[in-house]
Amino acid sequence: MEKVKTKWICQNCGYETAKYLGKCPDCFSWGTIVEEKVCSQNNKTSSLSIKNFNNQKPELLSSINFNQIDNIKRQKSGIDEFDRVTGGGLVLGSLNLIAGDPGIGKSTLLLQVCSKLAKNGLKLLYVSAEESAIQIKLRANRLNINSDNLYIYTNTNFELIEMQINDLKPDILVIDSIQTIFKSTLSSVSGTVSQIKECTLSFMQIAKTLNITIIIVGHVTKDGNIAGPKILEHMVDSVFYFEGDKYKSYRILRCNKNRFGATDELGMFEMEEFGLRQILNPSELFLNKHKEDDNGISGSVIVATNDGNRPLLVEIESLVGVTPYPSPRRVANGVDYNRLLQILAVLEKRLGLNLSKQDVYVNVAGGLNIYEPSSDLGIAVAILSCAYDVVFDPKTVLLGEISLSGYIKNVTNIEKRILEAQKLGFNRIIIPKQQNKKFKDFKIKILEVEKLKDVVKLCIGNLKK
Ligand code: TYD
Ligand code: MG
Repeated sequence: MEKVKTKWICQNCGYETAKYLGKCPDCFSWGTIVEEKVCSQNNKTSSLSIKNFNNQKPELLSSINFNQIDNIKRQKSGIDEFDRVTGGGLVLGSLNLIAGDPGIGKSTLLLQVCSKLAKNGLKLLYVSAEESAIQIKLRANRLNINSDNLYIYTNTNFELIEMQINDLKPDILVIDSIQTIFKSTLSSVSGTVSQIKECTLSFMQIAKTLNITIIIVGHVTKDGNIAGPKILEHMVDSVFYFEGDKYKSYRILRCNKNRFGATDELGMFEMEEFGLRQILNPSELFLNKHKEDDNGISGSVIVATNDGNRPLLVEIESLVGVTPYPSPRRVANGVDYNRLLQILAVLEKRLGLNLSKQDVYVNVAGGLNIYEPSSDLGIAVAILSCAYDVVFDPKTVLLGEISLSGYIKNVTNIEKRILEAQKLGFNRIIIPKQQNKKFKDFKIKILEVEKLKDVVKLCIGNLKK
């Protein structure tokens, strides 16, 4: 007879306990422990998986041939930004997870990728557990997508979906979204930890046994993690985050885990009226166009950050003004607040800049977030430029981390950043002093600096108004 047990499971981290607790002892979140019924009958592994893995034997590492690497088949979509992030295309038989805020464009991206893959002759099944077929048709119309190889199935029941997969035998399967799929054999509601775990495990078995590439969509929680336990991320082969500001049009596809490629890649898209358009030269997006014809504005500098493995030139703006409040305000948009406070402390101590009666605003143009320390120098110079009302040369790029002593520390991937600045037509780049490196092949003028004071002398002049 079927035995029903109840467990209390934290919906945030998957922690299990026998009784209710207000606070999860594992992840310390409050009110996330929920009662779930678990039927012991469901612990049986799917018969499908046993049948298919039956004749697999352990192999000697030394006997595994390198040719097998070439046998990893990748399914390229032809959307360069997507293919690059996935490590050169989705790997046949892999389970991939795409997560992002609601409304960010996950379904749009996947529908566009699907249509491209379908054009390449692959058979696709798009399972939508959130939208009706007509809603998908409307979106497809908007994106101008029509394909004979793309099947849409709208259901939330795992068993029914599995039947359709066995019938149709698609090459690629999209599950939109994993939080809405449920197995009727489990008594907990969809979206709970046990449902997500069980369904993902079954999809994993389907991917490996039937050699179907599966992409599952995952929702994220308020604090930006994938809803459901971390275990979901452990189970899949690759995890991609689709992010961006809902109110800005650009989107970033970031790889967080990839068993078949590098994780430091990132792809950029812009959400337009008729779908997502890939941005092949992202630096241009974040630079103001007005620089050519005017003499520039004080408080604005260009930094070379490194997002993923890719250099990105971004404009940092700063505004410094007398405060009307008893204690001055510090506002950081797109840069880390604590980092800003630290830079201000260095400016006050090492350069004698008095900001105790001044409000300081720092903003990254284009709404981008940069949390890399290499933009420290840019932030400092933007503040100085505005505080002394001196225009910083708009054709110079800044690069460097500021230490508390006022020295400029080195940054990673320096050559790539210099090259990007050169490519975009900048004349000069200020970088931290290099110990054992000489740059010869660059046309752009490279200035090496050791201390923050040197940069100030070079760019702002004598620190007196
Ligand atoms: P959607 O793909 O439904 O987001 P998600 O699946 O991540 O929840 O995208 C929703 C938003 O994208 C919606 O607010 C409208 C916008 N959008 C466009 O701006 N242009 C388009 O061509 C499409 C299809 C959507
Ligand atoms: Mg969606």
